Amino acid sequence: MNTVLVTGGAGYIGSHTCKLLHQSGFTPVTYDNLATGSKENVKWGPLVRGDVRDRDQLKHAIRLWQPVCVIHFAASAYVGESITDPRKYYSNNVAGILSLLDTCVDIQLRNIVFSSSCATYGIPAKLPIAERSPQAPINPYGRTKLIGEMMLKDYASAYKIHYVALRYFNAAGADIDGELRERHDPETHLIPRALMAAAGRIPELTVFGSDYDTPDGTCIRDYVHVTDLAQAHVSAVQHLIAGGKNMMVNLGSGRGTSVQQIIDTIERLTHRRVPVRREARRGGDPPALYPDLSVAASELNFTPRFSDIETIIRTAAPTFGLEIKHNVVA
Ligand code: NAD
Ligand code: UFG
Repeated sequence: MNTVLVTGGAGYIGSHTCKLLHQSGFTPVTYDNLATGSKENVKWGPLVRGDVRDRDQLKHAIRLWQPVCVIHFAASAYVGESITDPRKYYSNNVAGILSLLDTCVDIQLRNIVFSSSCATYGIPAKLPIAERSPQAPINPYGRTKLIGEMMLKDYASAYKIHYVALRYFNAAGADIDGELRERHDPETHLIPRALMAAAGRIPELTVFGSDYDTPDGTCIRDYVHVTDLAQAHVSAVQHLIAGGKNMMVNLGSGRGTSVQQIIDTIERLTHRRVPVRREARRGGDPPALYPDLSVAASELNFTPRFSDIETIIRTAAPTFGLEIKHNVVA
């Protein structure tokens, strides 16, 4: 059996990846403590309920399932919380990958795909951001991901671990077939919160900062559809199984979109108003982030298919009971 161990497979990006792994002939075995994920998301293979820091249980699961590769999604992933509770982030994200890498070395599981982040770059000197750009994260979350990358490099040169570290920009949208959704609790991400405000589920969307040095004053991010991200993970697994080289790879849509542009698109597609309250900048937010995707394109054959903002919003909207109007005027 072509098994892939997916830590964090019950979460948002992990569950979308399990679906595509299954479609590509792999059996995804989800290893998840359900801290933020949910059992309902595990539909395409077995669930082992466990913590990545529990080395005995992790070793047992790897011995039992004999995976050809592990994809390591399991982590804590709120930038704001990482500033107020860094201990949680160093424990879950750094002790988590240490436990995984040591276990892999001990039982000779060599192939690892790692969820890294554009948060490792901090405030970029130059846009678009290439992989070789300096990495100087400006929040503890980004630092834990950078430490993870450094550990991968060191373990690769000392113990022959093979890795692909995927630096995602902002994951967004949901399964095109409606089989999976974005469910974070608490939900802090821009697109779901803006949709919640449009649906009247929260009184308003707080816009953090309207005085950035960007065309409309709001922050610019690269929103990449979760199914495009999932496809890149399948390609990364195939790359490692085929003996491909170790690498760090940006994943995004290749296009920056401002907070204001997201609000405008939601209003246009749903014919609902997004009530907005403008506030001061949020700590740890770089003004603009979007990647150079040439490494993803050449090494992983990555071509985003669903990452235009309209498709992202169309697939995310049903989660919040919003209907997309088809007579939209561009
Ligand atoms: P998520 O919270 O939906 O998924 C994380 C999953 O990991 C959950 O199912 C959770 O229960 C599990 N988990 C957490 N700690 C665990 C532990 N110690 N042991 C076992 N399972 C554990 O988050 P997501 O948005 O799907 O993010 C997945 C990964 O992608 C994370 O590593 C995150 O840092 C990274 N990432 C996310 C984004 C984004 O925009 N969402 C961007 C860049 C990087
Ligand atoms: N924003 C608002 N109001 C909100 C939520 C967000 O104005 O209610 C703004 C933020 O200030 C930021 C942009 O919208 O400028 C995007 O914010 P998100 O919280 O949606 O995403 P982040 O960029 O902070 O972080 C996400 C993931 C991280 C990942 C990072 C990479 O949560 O795991 O993308 O940029 F590392």
